Amino acid sequence: MATARKPLVAGNWKLNKTVSEAVETVDALKPLVSGVSNVDVVVCPVYTALYSAAQAAAGSNVEVGAQNGYTKESGAFTGEVSPQLIKDTGCTWVILGHSERREYFTESDAFLNEKLHFALSAGLKVMFCIGETLEEREGGKMDDVLTRQVTEGLKGLTEDQFANVAIAYEPVWAIGTGVTATPDQAESAHLFVRGLVRDQFGDAVADGLRIQYGGSAKPDNAAELISQPNVDGFLVGGAALQADSFAAIVNAVSAHG
Ligand code: 13P
Repeated sequence: MATARKPLVAGNWKLNKTVSEAVETVDALKPLVSGVSNVDVVVCPVYTALYSAAQAAAGSNVEVGAQNGYTKESGAFTGEVSPQLIKDTGCTWVILGHSERREYFTESDAFLNEKLHFALSAGLKVMFCIGETLEEREGGKMDDVLTRQVTEGLKGLTEDQFANVAIAYEPVWAIGTGVTATPDQAESAHLFVRGLVRDQFGDAVADGLRIQYGGSAKPDNAAELISQPNVDGFLVGGAALQADSFAAIVNAVSAHG
């Protein structure tokens, strides 16, 4: 079904880059993507670099996002950062539910659903990550896992709220491994996820929802992946750390039109 979904390409810098390195990368990226108006471009530094990166990106077509956000605005929650404070730095996005958060910090579907609602209520846009492990895929559990992550994770969202949500399908076996999902694997997973969203939230939401692919996305595989009808952009890890390789992905997506 032909729909005009504007691609979304985001760099998840994970636990990398000092403040000055983050600013340098944003400064290097800006001229490389300044001509791109048909793709939303986001970089996601660590918390400590958000303000400086957002200042560096101000006035450009590069947006800045955080990699996590808590479920409370303020109070006695040592070490946490609220979506309101993320927004205060000049950020417009937050990544929630990354597999590293799910695995290393035991974030549950219910907790992520709470985070999602709270981030949206604070006025942030959310990239909500889902994806199966290799064990789950090989054990025939992939559909069940994606169904659970979508059903529990997106529970209670209204149609209006979906305007500020993207899903990132990131098969865990492809993250940081150099093994990328084939275009067919990505397309069939994205189609399945869009179908789940269609069943639960209707055609308008499903047709408008951007589903990014993440997992060893690189300049040399971006064109093939983005040519799949249900792949609407990327969430890039390693290849987003350098401005030139990230820009090459953005430009490959832009060229696809
Ligand atoms: P890589 O691109 O390094 O595989 O990481 C993907 C990812 O986890 C983005 O969130």
